Amino acid sequence: MSFLSSLRQFFSSPKEAASTSTHAPPKQIRVLVLYYSSYGHTETIAHAIAEGARSTGAHVAIKQVPELVPEETARENHFKTDQSAPIAQPDELADYDAIIIGAPTRFGRQPAQMANFWDRTGTLWLKGALIGKIGAVFTSTATQHGGQEMTLYSLMSNLLHHGMVVTGLPYSFQGQLQLETVAGGTPYGASTIAGGDGSRTPSDIEKDGARFLGSHVALFAQK
Ligand SMILES: Cc1cc2nc3c(=O)[nH]c(=O)nc-3n(C[C@H](O)[C@H](O)[C@H](O)COP(=O)(O)O)c2cc1C
Repeated sequence: MSFLSSLRQFFSSPKEAASTSTHAPPKQIRVLVLYYSSYGHTETIAHAIAEGARSTGAHVAIKQVPELVPEETARENHFKTDQSAPIAQPDELADYDAIIIGAPTRFGRQPAQMANFWDRTGTLWLKGALIGKIGAVFTSTATQHGGQEMTLYSLMSNLLHHGMVVTGLPYSFQGQLQLETVAGGTPYGASTIAGGDGSRTPSDIEKDGARFLGSHVALFAQK
């Protein structure tokens, strides 16, 4: 068979017919923004990510993982206790096309609350239920060098072991190139800096980065 006829055969194969059939309406992408937050900084970033994802036409759910510390510890450390988002169940992860997870750092790594949630996903992992889904991560630290990238990697590990395709915040989000102000926002994911006493709130650049990540993930999942 000549090279040309091989090519013709390739392009007339059912694979080609299927790939050129583009008349089906685009599917509405389902995105889950899943977070843990003790004081609300990570939660604010979660909402900005959801806003960005929603701006693409995606269906977006925002959910939390359960609190694990005893009530006394939460009270002593002034954790916020309002139930501002529903609690996610591990099984529902399979229902989404993209999953974006975030949590504040604990000693440079993801907190037990988020790790525990993923520790409960063994059944999904055995089924390969999340393989090929799109993922991304976000975090908050008290200080500028308190472990943002380490924590983002630690969060990513959950998604990678599930076979998900992880994306970060591209440099087309120019806010991460500025040097005028101290700000979160990294190629590994969205982030904010809470301050040693937690008094700093997420800045406009950080929220813009979070919106950018949300829209980037939803458009990526659409592709
Ligand atoms: C036990 C514990 C460990 C922490 N470890 C770090 C750390 O290693 N680096 C850091 O910058 N901040 C650390 N923090 C501060 C939190 O990351 C900070 O309170 C958080 O980013 C605020 O986000 P949130 O409002 O979403 O809870 C720690 C806080 C606690 C309670």
